[in-house]
Amino acid sequence: MNSKVLIIGACGQIGSELTQRLRQLYGADAVIASDIRQCNDELMDSGVFEILDATDFQGIKSCVEKYNVKTVYLMAALLSATGEKFPEKAWDLNMNSLFHVLNLAKDGIIDKVFWPSSIAVFGPTTPQTYTPQHTTMEPTTVYGITKQVGERWCEYYHNKYGVDVRSIRYPGIISWKTMPGGGTTDYAVEIYHKAIKNGRYECFLSKDTELPMMFMEDAIDATVNIMQAESKNIKIRSSYNLAAISFTPSQIAKSITFHIPDFKMSYTPDFRQAIADSWPKSIDASKAREDWGWNHRYNLETMTDEMIRQLKMKYQENI
Ligand code: SER
Repeated sequence: MNSKVLIIGACGQIGSELTQRLRQLYGADAVIASDIRQCNDELMDSGVFEILDATDFQGIKSCVEKYNVKTVYLMAALLSATGEKFPEKAWDLNMNSLFHVLNLAKDGIIDKVFWPSSIAVFGPTTPQTYTPQHTTMEPTTVYGITKQVGERWCEYYHNKYGVDVRSIRYPGIISWKTMPGGGTTDYAVEIYHKAIKNGRYECFLSKDTELPMMFMEDAIDATVNIMQAESKNIKIRSSYNLAAISFTPSQIAKSITFHIPDFKMSYTPDFRQAIADSWPKSIDASKAREDWGWNHRYNLETMTDEMIRQLKMKYQENI
């Protein structure tokens, strides 16, 4: 049986699009999608799907053995805002799932692991502009703590046991297919939906809160590229800084008014403001560029064009 790829957390914002891209690249039969719940029809109908709890070691192991999986993308996680509401659950899910997958690699059952980290590994003592790869990291959210600790474990498993684990620190990801859930950067997705449906949006961050962001196409390219790179080129085994664009709520609102001139934005910051304030405004991704050729394609304007175009079609279909 040919070796397969398993995506854990395939129904999520990134997992759903990653699954489709990997199925295009490697063939529908080669990519096993899994999640704790059922996904949309497009994903469930385009290849094999398994219900899998990311905290269940035996369940993951059985699935890996059943399909001869050699590469695992572990996309299941509780994000920053939800993590603050359920700290123990965030720790349990984010850490145990990583241990399970790293241990399968350590035992030689799988060959390769992708695990996403985040800009949430940084904290208020980190330089906020053009944040370097190696810098002070004192995250203040449970999510950020799990990602920072996870990075240390990834590097440890690579150095001690030779595990081929690869990771990137995603910024906020903007996409139109699957809604994000429970993140601080989610406003930058919600805003497009509300702009098209209601012509207005009440933002939960203040208007000048600048954060690093990226369009989904670029995020998927980065994920595929780092996994396809030769192992010797992956010199950082904790997690790579990754960057595309940075903007504030008022800048994204302005980019939307080019398409929807009457669009109105109001600002009512909530507890997520403190999380956003603790994160970088922009990121230095030069190591990812040097080591595996990272480059982004979408800027704020081209991303907004694409988001509005796709969502208008999506909402029209549903009328
Ligand atoms: N998008 C994530 C969040 O806001 C950051 O990795 O939690």
